[in-house]
Amino acid sequence: MSNCVQNSGSNSFDTAKGLIQTVRELNLEIETSEFFSLLGPSGCGKTTTIRCIAGLENPDGGDIVLGDKLVFSRTQNRIVPVYQRNIGMVFQSYAI
Ligand SMILES: Nc1ncnc2c1ncn2[C@@H]1O[C@H](COP(=O)(O)OP(=O)(O)O)[C@@H](O)[C@H]1O
Ligand SMILES: [Mg+2]
Repeated sequence: MSNCVQNSGSNSFDTAKGLIQTVRELNLEIETSEFFSLLGPSGCGKTTTIRCIAGLENPDGGDIVLGDKLVFSRTQNRIVPVYQRNIGMVFQSYAI
């Protein structure tokens, strides 16, 4: 993976039961070639975080940088689509 940074990113889902905040002010930096594992109990926001990095989910705020490319920023109104992020993802549940 190329260098990846997510700065103070937050994500929430608007549901019938109200607004559910899934990721709150996450700061994460993964170095080039680093093997990084995201561990935590079920429902803590691992998949949502990965989906935000891949571009399948748009956080409420914060910046996401992949390598030297700013791929997401609310303040700069920038959302690079998933197919332009040059990122691979293996899904937990296949959708084939
Ligand atoms: N599309 C969605 N709509 C509403 N709530 C969601 C959605 N996706 C995930 N959630 C909720 O967000 C929380 C984090 O989910 P998730 O990122 O899948 O956790 P993990 O991968 O760590 O098990 C859970 O409470 C889950 O129910
Ligand atoms: Mg998951």
